[in-house]
Amino acid sequence: MKALVLAGGSGTRLRPITHTSAKQLVPVANKPVLFYGLEAIAEAGVTEVGIVVGDTAAEIRAAVGDGSAFGVDVTYIPQAAPLGLAHAVLIARDFLGDDDFVMYLGDNFVVGGIADLVDAFRAERPDAQILLTRVPNPTAFGVAELDAAGQVIGLEEKPRRPRSELALVGVYLFSPAVHEAVRAIEPSWRGELEITHAVQWLIDAGREVRSTTISGYWKDTGNVTDMLEVNRSVLETLERRIDGTVDDDSEIIGRVRIEAGAEVTGSRILGPAVVGPGTVVAGSYVGPFTSIAGDCRIEDSEIEYSIVLRGSSLRGVGRVEASLVGRDVEVTPATRKPAAHRLVLGDHSKVRISS
Ligand code: G1P
Repeated sequence: MKALVLAGGSGTRLRPITHTSAKQLVPVANKPVLFYGLEAIAEAGVTEVGIVVGDTAAEIRAAVGDGSAFGVDVTYIPQAAPLGLAHAVLIARDFLGDDDFVMYLGDNFVVGGIADLVDAFRAERPDAQILLTRVPNPTAFGVAELDAAGQVIGLEEKPRRPRSELALVGVYLFSPAVHEAVRAIEPSWRGELEITHAVQWLIDAGREVRSTTISGYWKDTGNVTDMLEVNRSVLETLERRIDGTVDDDSEIIGRVRIEAGAEVTGSRILGPAVVGPGTVVAGSYVGPFTSIAGDCRIEDSEIEYSIVLRGSSLRGVGRVEASLVGRDVEVTPATRKPAAHRLVLGDHSKVRISS
């Protein structure tokens, strides 16, 4: 069994934070979402991993390397243009050979991993096994229709009028039968070879396609509330570990991870929370469900249920809640009268001011 991880695409459909970087590297609890996928693959006992890369290939390679950090052996497969998930299978044929494989979309997050699924597939070997989850916005996904017995009878990609609220999760298990399917289908209206159509082709050809419905699924659709929620659910599983320095005037309560090189002085941190390497927290309160990335400064501030990305600073800003702060952002109080908000915000930013 092999794994095919898709880490192409540009992320332009997402919120501004991913405009400048690969969507698969959006951090959840200070770790890129792609890393959770690679860990899940390794945990399922799959070690030969092909990663399909596009425009952001350099970033993905820099982050993942040869895969040894995850216990897997990575082969990079360049995709010249984002021509669809089924196209990725097409160009990965040499890597995949005639092995069964799990295809994993690198921007998807599945709580609890995929080990049980992979085991079931290995034991029963249907032609395809798809994962479904209930979503409030099925029009943004591939959507499955099941019959009364729970058999998949039809799939549609981004339907205008969805026949169910069961979305296709970006984890698929395939036997080599899928290669015939990806060769047979035509590009969709968006010019892509859709994996949804390839699976439909297998159903139409009378092949065995099974489905499992899961909960605990997340994908970055640009919704900050969802992002804070997935961050929270991962932090729930955090174990306490203090590798950085904490002075005597500080109080660290509960499941808090303070990475090496971080410095906490005169502060109170109430877990679950994580403070990245090289970050300084001084005279501040960091509340539950907060992820602060590396090289940040939190001074004379309070922050809770929030995400702060690399290199940003909050100084003397009172209380911040339910917020997502991008990279290299500075938040400071206005120094002069008249008391006014002074803002430099990127495109598509959203700010809520409470005064
Ligand atoms: C792709 C698939 C879609 C699936 C989704 C899951 O969508 O085409 O069927 O539901 O991944 O992440 P895309 O990311 O291309 O919008």
